[in-house]
Amino acid sequence: MITKSDDRTFSGHVAIVTGAGSGIGRATAVAFAQAGAHVLGVGRREKPLKDTAAIDGNIEILAIDVCDDGAPAEIVGAAVRRWGRLDHLVNNAGATAVMPLAETDKKVVQDLFALNVVAPSLLAHEALPHLRETSGTILNLSSTYGHRPMAGGAHYAATKAAVEQLTRSWALELAAEGVRVNSIAPGPTRTDVMLHAGLSPEAADDMYAYERERIPTHRIADAEEVAHWVLRLAEPAGRHATGQVITVDGGLELV
Ligand SMILES: NC(=O)c1ccc[n+]([C@@H]2O[C@H](COP(=O)([O-])OP(=O)(O)OC[C@H]3O[C@@H](n4cnc5c(N)ncnc54)[C@H](OP(=O)(O)O)[C@@H]3O)[C@@H](O)[C@H]2O)c1
Repeated sequence: MITKSDDRTFSGHVAIVTGAGSGIGRATAVAFAQAGAHVLGVGRREKPLKDTAAIDGNIEILAIDVCDDGAPAEIVGAAVRRWGRLDHLVNNAGATAVMPLAETDKKVVQDLFALNVVAPSLLAHEALPHLRETSGTILNLSSTYGHRPMAGGAHYAATKAAVEQLTRSWALELAAEGVRVNSIAPGPTRTDVMLHAGLSPEAADDMYAYERERIPTHRIADAEEVAHWVLRLAEPAGRHATGQVITVDGGLELV
């Protein structure tokens, strides 16, 4: 559920959110915009991006594949040309795959790494000169499965483990320059991510029911609850936190 707020924490800031046409990315784009930021929402499909932009007038969109050659420069350039600065890069676009070792497929492995690891790296590289100017932040979406094993999803888990190490290493590299780098690691969150991975709606429902039983709070998060933590790490009041992976999973990582 998306609610209106009077919060102007990010007034004058500029944020890029990848994967802004659905799920956690849409909730994050809307939350930034409602807190005063100008937001460039990025994704491949224009229609869902337009639906996100229709929620708040502070959101503009760019339909592009983040894995394409030249995409990082185009995305960062679009935000900086439009608003003259960049304060926050949210590397949220990502995908998962159900793929036991016995069914390992080279293209699936390559595509997962291209989207979940290579594209965020090149976007962060392109954004860096602008983030240095604003003492900006990079937020990388990991997963609770970035730091616990996932039977049947090893390569997804491996991409998110890579994201967590990028986060910690870049944070250390950039701390003295005032650029902060953090990760949010959600547990199972109700979005279309499993449908995008090829599961039927029934199989996705079964998966969420199974996870709900295992999660100590016995609930599945909604996307806004994850976006909340993205903003808490990005906001100026969070300035002493860098290199952190904040797990938002109802305690799943504890069991
Ligand atoms: N939902 C969960 O349970 C969960 C748990 C842990 C971590 N996460 C992580 O949270 C992030 C968001 O996931 P979500 O659950 O919100 O899933 P989602 O609804 O499937 O969102 C993924 C978004 O990424 C965009 N995207 C995919 N490939 C892209 C590409 N090549 N270029 C540009 N945009 C692309 C998609 O839009 P287009 O198809 O239009 O491009 C989509 O809007 C992901 O990194 C995911 O791994 C999710």
